[in-house]
Amino acid sequence: MTDTPPAVELHVHVEGTLEPELIMELAERNRVPLPYADLDDLRARYAFDDLQHFLDLYYANMAVLREPADFAAMTTAYLTRAAAAGVRHVELFVDPQAHLARGVPVEAVLEGVAGALAAAPEGMTTGLIPCFLRDRPAAEAGTVLEALLASGTPLLGIGLDSAELGHPPSLFADVYARARAEGLRLVAHAGEEGPAAYVWEALDLLGVERVDHGIRSLEDPALVARLVEEAVPLTVCPLSNVRLRCVDTLAAHPLPAMLDAGLAASIHSDDPAYFGGYVDDNHRAVAAALGLDRSQVRTLADNAVEAAFVDDTRRAELRAEVAAWAQA
Ligand code: ADE
Ligand code: ZN
Repeated sequence: MTDTPPAVELHVHVEGTLEPELIMELAERNRVPLPYADLDDLRARYAFDDLQHFLDLYYANMAVLREPADFAAMTTAYLTRAAAAGVRHVELFVDPQAHLARGVPVEAVLEGVAGALAAAPEGMTTGLIPCFLRDRPAAEAGTVLEALLASGTPLLGIGLDSAELGHPPSLFADVYARARAEGLRLVAHAGEEGPAAYVWEALDLLGVERVDHGIRSLEDPALVARLVEEAVPLTVCPLSNVRLRCVDTLAAHPLPAMLDAGLAASIHSDDPAYFGGYVDDNHRAVAAALGLDRSQVRTLADNAVEAAFVDDTRRAELRAEVAAWAQA
């Protein structure tokens, strides 16, 4: 029996799994000059003041990703680590615009990431969710969505990420309407640094089925009532919230209050290479800091299973795996 439950990872950015060692290796392979003296110098920069501070480093480090093989290497390394973390199903975010802006075509990104997902470890199911960068124009997101659809790559859904404050979901209503018409599942980051009003917009104007983060929802009792009533899943990333200073400490994390309020919260990793841990580390850290017992950890694991975009058969399998862990 492992100390953490079989995991359903619904909030992980593939570029956020790029470990410092792989950054250095790919920089050398692709002859990309980096402004870091060595690995320790790079690691020393992983102390963040806020979301934008992190995003600056996250986007800068993507410079080492040039070819489909680089994207495949990053994705395969993640899947290997995820399997060790007990991940049984993953819905992986990717940021195509961050690469397009550097001259890497959407097709090259998809070839590498989707190719690696197709060769995921035995028994692990996967899906791919490209996210649009909310701090870039919505018209660009629309163009990129058409390229994604035209690529023929199997896509699970779309998401919305990057700098939240000042970039409300409402700007992307048309893009989401188009994605919905194509049968894609809809999620968006909201209520991470941004206000509860952005969570309302994500629900009402984008029609999202899941909210990524959503921790600031607690500031608005009417929103909490809505999220509970509709059982809207919230993918919470505790280590991320602390490292980006959305929350002061793990012990002060609102997760227990979210569960007490009846919110369908589950635990995920966001950008594990940057925030000090994968989904198993997040489970462990939260259980220790918040003193969660096994039944509360099970509730979190069950919530993730119910929030996954999987068919009935796969959901039944995942439910059974969590139940077996809880009874062991
Ligand atoms: N992109 C990668 N990680 C992110 C986060 N935590 N919030 C918004 N955009 C992101
Ligand atoms: Zn995220």
